[in-house]
Amino acid sequence: MITTKDKAKIGIIGGSGLYDPKILENTREIKIYTPYGEPSDYILLGELEGKSVAFLPRHGRGHRIPPHKINYRANIWALKELGVKWLISVSAVGSLRMDYKPGDFVIPDQFIDMTKGRDYTFFDGPVVAHVSMADPFCNSLRKIILDIVREMKIQTHERGTYICIEGPRFSTRAESRVWKEVFKADIIGMTLVPEVNLACEAQMCYSTIAMITDYDVFAELPVTAEEVTKVMAENTEKARKLLYEVIKRLPEEPDERECSCCHSLKTALL
Ligand code: ADE
Repeated sequence: MITTKDKAKIGIIGGSGLYDPKILENTREIKIYTPYGEPSDYILLGELEGKSVAFLPRHGRGHRIPPHKINYRANIWALKELGVKWLISVSAVGSLRMDYKPGDFVIPDQFIDMTKGRDYTFFDGPVVAHVSMADPFCNSLRKIILDIVREMKIQTHERGTYICIEGPRFSTRAESRVWKEVFKADIIGMTLVPEVNLACEAQMCYSTIAMITDYDVFAELPVTAEEVTKVMAENTEKARKLLYEVIKRLPEEPDERECSCCHSLKTALL
């Protein structure tokens, strides 16, 4: 049972390399049961400057769960159950353009879904809902993050289209050229969808901090796991510092006039 002590308005989903935010105090772990089964791991609840924060490692601690096997519905359900309204996700991505370099951050504003068979919705029937995905990320949250990366002088691209592939394999050279030249995507990863869709259905303000770990294979050399892991380790510390500042500065409540996230079901086709 969740008690009032176990509430948090701010949630973080950590991606590859970020299994412990190391910025929270008074931490405790809680297990949450959901109608969709188990989330990726225990949720770490803690405080930062008096604010309650819930942290969930997307792949489980020790990276046990591949992208296509993540129980995205259980993850979002569990965070919603804790009262999360602001949800910041951190993800490792590949770059599809030379000026988005390994080590840079991107705060994407669009996505393209090339996944193949995941559980995309909480509205599986008998209640059916079609939510708008025109602007999939919370603009209010994006603005807060962008102000802070500018101040912290973290090399960041303020927009980008994230193409989400099924994985767990990386793309072929031909696929990578299609994502880059035909679809005009900027970055590539395996986990944004359906996390973003479900956060929207759950009426959360959601934004992603994408950390570029490699050039995707259009750029000659095949992506290697070693390359991804090396850049990720270098970037994780930067991500922690950024998360610390963002959480510190997040307002108590999202400004419902600035974003449509809190009303996503009001404008949905139900
Ligand atoms: N995650 C990190 N790098 C990636 C790439 N090149 N393709 C897909 N997912 C990734």
